[in-house]
This record gives sequence, structure tokens and C-alpha cells, in this order.
Amino acid sequence: MTARNTDGAGVVSALDRTAQVGFQSHFHRSATGLWSAPGRVNLIGEHTDYNDGFVLPLAIDRRTVVALASRTDRVVRVASSFAAETVEVSLDELVPENLVGWSAYPLGVAWALGQFGADLAVVPGFEVYIDSDVPVGAGLSSSAALESAVAVALNDVWGLDLDRATLARVGQLAENRVVGAPTGIMDQSASLLGQADAAVFLDCRSLAAEVIPLGLHPAGLELLIIDTRVSHSHATGGYAARRKSCEAGARALGVPALRDLSLDDLTRAQAMLDDETFRRVRHIVTENQRVLDTVQTLRSSGCTAIGPLLDASHRSMRDDFEISAPELDVAVDTARRAGAIGARMTGGGFGGAAIALTPTDRVPAVKAAVMAAFAERGFATPDLFVVHAADGAARDGGVRP
Ligand code: GLA
Repeated sequence: MTARNTDGAGVVSALDRTAQVGFQSHFHRSATGLWSAPGRVNLIGEHTDYNDGFVLPLAIDRRTVVALASRTDRVVRVASSFAAETVEVSLDELVPENLVGWSAYPLGVAWALGQFGADLAVVPGFEVYIDSDVPVGAGLSSSAALESAVAVALNDVWGLDLDRATLARVGQLAENRVVGAPTGIMDQSASLLGQADAAVFLDCRSLAAEVIPLGLHPAGLELLIIDTRVSHSHATGGYAARRKSCEAGARALGVPALRDLSLDDLTRAQAMLDDETFRRVRHIVTENQRVLDTVQTLRSSGCTAIGPLLDASHRSMRDDFEISAPELDVAVDTARRAGAIGARMTGGGFGGAAIALTPTDRVPAVKAAVMAAFAERGFATPDLFVVHAADGAARDGGVRP
């Protein structure tokens, strides 16, 4: 992980420097700027974003850096530390159907900026080199980090002056239309709006966002990530199916989105819906309430009091929304037994990571217990590490050749 001074723009981290070197070796000149954006974990509020509901994610101290320089023609060249090839495309060919593979993320953002006001017929081409220490496939939004870093970079270089909420929509559009994953607005919002030691309370209907201080360190707590190494993909299967069930539930109940239901509506919902759709609906309705309760609890009693809400969220995802996995359930149960005060799977589900809110002095015991439980069951060796709430996307500093 890169130690990063978060004093603001102008800071150049170790990861920035490797991106600079990567840019130089691929394009034989210096980048004119460095921008970075973080991955995220979701503290609570899962699958509520595309139901117009509430989420409470935080940006983490794992980032994706882009080193970028404009060209004088219409050519775009994209290289990265995670793929051997350099992809070249003309801005005139930038349509979703032409974009495939990993470069669909950065190129998709360039295309999506065109949908939000950039005049792609006149902007200059660019070269970009991408480096990252956000783990891929762990449910920590490596894709949103990449999209957000490219979005803030091009917003600056192309002089677009789009605000953060709009840049989040740009990243989401790239993900939906170019990558083909029907995801909501949470990940990009966390990556763009996050702040150190705080979570982002987002109303996914109005896009009103509020920063909620977490105070983990003064409370002696750490946020431990348990990456199960079970990979997940939102472009396929379960995620889209859950979204469809939610939309069907809202239609059947005559509301624009499940956000418009409250706990009092669940009796009527149970009478009207088949059992599976009802349980999907119940997860969303109760999860929205848990987000509101978590914000309220953080304000009134602090982070040491939110454990039961995290636990309840996990149970709801396991039993009602059915997006957990055996590895995630073992991670959560073991972490709780070994001393975490609350734990839940985080992100889209079907694999990826769990979070365990853990007293600092219990972190080694929780790590050891989870490793042992996974080994005992023959699961892949998990990756366990602590993350801190970090600042959102930023320009990191100019490159001085
Ligand atoms: C993924 C999606 C988000 C959100 C979560 C589930 O991370 O990208 O939009 O739906 O799953 O909460």
C-alpha cells in the first residue's frame, strides 16, 4: 500500500511516481498531470442505490493513479501496469460497441463525458498510463476508482468544469453502457466524495450527500477487510437478477422505487408478492432503514454502537437477498466470534469481501481465526488487511520533468 499524505492537491505519492515512470517508458515523454481516486468499502446500505435508497460507503486508502498528457491530434493511447498492451483508438471511433477489455473503463469514461457535455468532436486526444493498488475483484470498487480517476483528469484537461455528482454519473454511465454492468451510483460517489475519517451518506434519489465523521481511531476500532478471493462479476448473473426482482416488486406494489416503501408496508407486500420477491423487497426496505439508523447511531452514540446494525445487514443479505457465499458467511461469523463488534459482507455480493469492525487489540486474533477457519474448510487463503477512510479523487500534483 502507498503511504499518502492527504494534505490536498500537489501531493505526490509513491504510486504517483511509479505511474509517472510508467507513462515516461510507454510514451517517451512526461505526463503533464497526475490524478488519483480511491476504492471504497460500503459500511452499510447494500443494493439500495439502484432502488433510489440510502447508502453509507467510505473511500479507502487504496488508490488508482492516472498519469496523463494531451496530444495535438485526435488519438487516444491507454497503457497500464496491469495489462501488457497499449490500446490506441481515435476519438472519432469512441462508441460503446468498439470498447472491450480493461481499456473499456478509461475509454468508456471519455465517451460518457461526451454524453454529459464534453464536445468530443473538438477535444484533443491524450495518452494515459494507469497504476493502482486497489485489489481487483475484491469488491472494493477498483473499477470505480479507475473511472473516477480518469473522470477528474479529463474534466481538468478538457476544461469541462463538471461537478463531482455529475462525474459520478459519468462513471456510472460508462459502467452501465460500456462495461455492461447494471450498477448504481454508490461506488463512483464514494470515490469522488469521500473524506478522511468519514463516510458518505448518500441519498441515491436526490444525490444529496453528507459527510458523516466515523471516529474509528479515537474509539480504538479498525475496519478490517476480509477479501475471500472468491471473485465476483457484476456484469453477469446474480446482480442483474436482483435488480430485476426489485423492479418487479416496486411495479407490483405500485411505487416508483422500493425507496418509497417503509417497514409498515411489508405486511401488504407479503400478501401481494411471491415469497422470493417479498424477501428481496424486505431486504431493501429494512436495509434503507438500517442506513438511516446507522447514521443516527453514529451521531448520537458513535461508531462503537453500530455493530448490531452491521450484523443485521449481513443476515438480511444472506437470508432475504441471498447474495452471500459460504466464504463470506464463515468470514463474518468467525470475525464476530473472535472479537469483531460487527461484521457483514460488503459490495455486490456472490464473493468479494467482508468487513469486520474490530477493536485494534483484537485485529491479530480475528485475522488468525479467519485464516484458520478458511484453511479448515479448504477455502482459498483469504487476504486480510485494515483500511482507513480516505479523501476522494484529486489532482495529485504536476510532473516536473
Ligand atoms: C456494486 C455496485 C453498486 C451497488 C453495490 C451493492 O458495488 O457497483 O452500485 O449496487 O454493488 O450495494
